[in-house]
Amino acid sequence: MVTFDFSISCNSFLNTMDIKREMERKGEVFSSFEKSSMIGWMDPVDATLIEKIFHIRDRIKQNSKCLVVIGIGGSFLGSYAMKEMFSDYFSKEEFPIIYAGTSLSSQYMDQLLSYLKTIDFSVQVISKSGTTMETMITYQLVKQLMEEKYSKEELRKRIIITTDSKEGSLRKEAETEGYDAFIIPNNIGGRYSITTPAHLLAMSFFLDISKFLEGFYQGLKRQEEAYQYAVVRKLLFERGKYIENFCVYEPKLYYFTEWLKQLFGETEGKEQKGIFPVSTVHTRDLHSLGQFIQEGNPILFETFFKIHHSTKILYNQLELHHINNVVLDSVVDAHISGGVPCNLIELDQIEEDTIGQLCAFFMLSAAYSGYLFGVDPFNQPGVEVYKKRIRENLELHF
Ligand code: PA5
Repeated sequence: MVTFDFSISCNSFLNTMDIKREMERKGEVFSSFEKSSMIGWMDPVDATLIEKIFHIRDRIKQNSKCLVVIGIGGSFLGSYAMKEMFSDYFSKEEFPIIYAGTSLSSQYMDQLLSYLKTIDFSVQVISKSGTTMETMITYQLVKQLMEEKYSKEELRKRIIITTDSKEGSLRKEAETEGYDAFIIPNNIGGRYSITTPAHLLAMSFFLDISKFLEGFYQGLKRQEEAYQYAVVRKLLFERGKYIENFCVYEPKLYYFTEWLKQLFGETEGKEQKGIFPVSTVHTRDLHSLGQFIQEGNPILFETFFKIHHSTKILYNQLELHHINNVVLDSVVDAHISGGVPCNLIELDQIEEDTIGQLCAFFMLSAAYSGYLFGVDPFNQPGVEVYKKRIRENLELHF
């Protein structure tokens, strides 16, 4: 179960008339959303696609010791966030997944290639555009190594391309070389692609993707609450709360907040508008940024994630998890007293369906928020500017 509580922000920091005004825009916002050509993620995932994902996953498990996932931004954060959330902190991974292409660190690349020389592996390269520099450089370097290690026939069993249905060099390569390929549909943008093979293939190694998708479809029904959250955030912004801090008390959720940062940042942050998303992991950051949040420049509001059930480990007859949640409640109280509006999202526990619900909720809410701010929630012209500059400066042609 997932519940949302925006009452603290509404009752203590916002004005009833403002809330009413923005709530009355719901029809207009929902209608713009429904007319959008970029909401392919509202459609159920085809069963044959899931079968193909399982088939390829099983083959990779048989012929490889690890999967290297190459992608960045919306082509990486979703599955990476899930991997962090659903992996044990210490036990060795059953089937390691290595992520690459998220930096241009030559040290990372050097060490990655040295490691990959020693084991059998497969690669999933993910780029909707097929032109993203970090992804393409990484893929080409890893592929060079694969060509030294494997025959052409073997490469066809080890390279999986995930890209646009028609355009781009990766699509051409998949066709000419006969590599297995998945499509990122035209009507789904990178940050909204968590239910596409860009993420589901990797996720199928460490979680039950059917349960995740069931949860996701449930979450898509929570449109009213997703709209309320969008309204509350927008009104807080109008009151000078320009930054939203996502606070987690379970470090495994850190990368989920990174996914949220991209989702909201790239959706709203255009035409000089939008809330700047940040995140803190508690209790660690209470001992560093806590001071600023409590008493510094009052430009923040917060959204807390509270998880009801975790392990039963005890400290002095008290569950450690209970102590963690009492700290959360106390911090909410303290921050409210410091003038920081706080929203609360509560989950029973970290499970596939709950997290699927949350993903859908946030995707809906981010999209509604874009419309409330008067921007296109589904484009990212700013990202394209930097990509183009780099290609010009380095004279690279992908
Ligand atoms: O959300 C987005 O559109 C971006 O973050 C992209 O996912 C990211 O830039 C990678 O793009 P591509 O999948 O085309 O390589």
